Amino acid sequence: MSIVNQLSMPVWQQRLLWIVNPVAYMEQAVKEHPDLFTATVSGFSDSLIFVNDPQGIQQILTNDRQIFFPAGELNNILTPIVGYSSLLSLDGQKHKRERKLMMPSFHGERMHYYGNLVHEIVDRIFSKQRVNSVFIAREITQDISLTVILEVVFGLTEGEKFDRIAQLIKSILNRFNQPINISFLFYEFLRKDWGKWSPWGNFIRIQKELDELIYHEIETRRTETNDQQIDMLSLLLSAQDENGQGMTNQELRDELMLILFAGHETTAIAMAWSLYWIHYHPEIKDKLLGELDNLPANSDGMTIYQQPYLTAVCNETLRIYPVAMLTFPRIVTEPVELLGHQLSKGTVLLGCIYNTHQRQDLYPSPYQFKPERFLERQYSPYEFLPFGGGVRRCLGEALASYEMK
Ligand code: HEM
Repeated sequence: MSIVNQLSMPVWQQRLLWIVNPVAYMEQAVKEHPDLFTATVSGFSDSLIFVNDPQGIQQILTNDRQIFFPAGELNNILTPIVGYSSLLSLDGQKHKRERKLMMPSFHGERMHYYGNLVHEIVDRIFSKQRVNSVFIAREITQDISLTVILEVVFGLTEGEKFDRIAQLIKSILNRFNQPINISFLFYEFLRKDWGKWSPWGNFIRIQKELDELIYHEIETRRTETNDQQIDMLSLLLSAQDENGQGMTNQELRDELMLILFAGHETTAIAMAWSLYWIHYHPEIKDKLLGELDNLPANSDGMTIYQQPYLTAVCNETLRIYPVAMLTFPRIVTEPVELLGHQLSKGTVLLGCIYNTHQRQDLYPSPYQFKPERFLERQYSPYEFLPFGGGVRRCLGEALASYEMK
């Protein structure tokens, strides 16, 4: 595999800085090598190439079934949570088939309905807040995004089952706040059950209970014929490929876990940042509220979704601190030239969303929060890519955007 544009920083320092301050790491690296650089960072066994240039990213993402292959095995760090049958672990034809089965649930007419449901959930959660009281934005936005997933994706309504599933999910996802609690994802030898107080022992007990509830829900739904149920799980249960094959219980369980994992915290963080930025710049908040105040009372989700300044504020939020700093990895399948560098078979590449979004030539004064830039200029999907691109482009983009807006 190729090592190009090595950093002057010693490897031990790279590994450490990536853990304690990944943003500082990427900013330091891009100063040395603006287009692409070889990174040696914790969490990946081999060296990786981070690509910060839109042309390079375009080349990767438009060839990502052939030369730049999104091999599922490169994502295996998350298999203890999402299993081996989710989109994340699949590649090639299997990945294509599964995406085809899932895609209709996330697009088209459905989104209109889901948009209105999201609108109602946000209103319901904010109406519990007392006016003029202080609140922690991230707690509220986590509450919103988890409720959206449980109601829109699982089709659950508030009640005992809803509360228990929400509690178990939170206790799995909260451990991501402390890297030590998820060290077993990085190091397989730590996956030892030393009782319910040990990190792995505790994790597998929670995961087991959650799995039982999810499998029970899938089984119950298979036996019910309720045409009124239009949540994503119902759609997924009826989805069939060209051979008339549907998804197995295991596939459904793994995809639901992936949606929970990929869709909950990401969207909550994006919403919390947007609240932060508009309060940090009151003039932006006033302009935004001005746009929303001009809408007729009780406007539906789609009308709100299409407002230009609101769109610009959400885009700028996802540009300045993209929640996903990198795309999933792609592996080179045959020798190829990328941005003037020869890459050999087996080289692993990541599109560096953060560095691309901070490019001075695309985004003058990149550290400033300026939604207007999105009204003044159109960006290509390789210049602005908070949801990645190509065959692994985020499936939840429309849902996340609805929530933010
Ligand atoms: C602001 C919120 C979100 C951001 C910034 C985000 C970002 C991303 C990115 C960068 C990727 C990788 C794309 C690539 O490698 O090219 C991805 C993949 C994915 N996202 Fe999201 N995401 C968000 C919300 C969601 C939501 C709400 C869901 C589901 C409800 C979701 C489901 C997925 C799935 C299933 C994949 C894997 C697709 C595949 O492997 O084919 N995401 N997301």
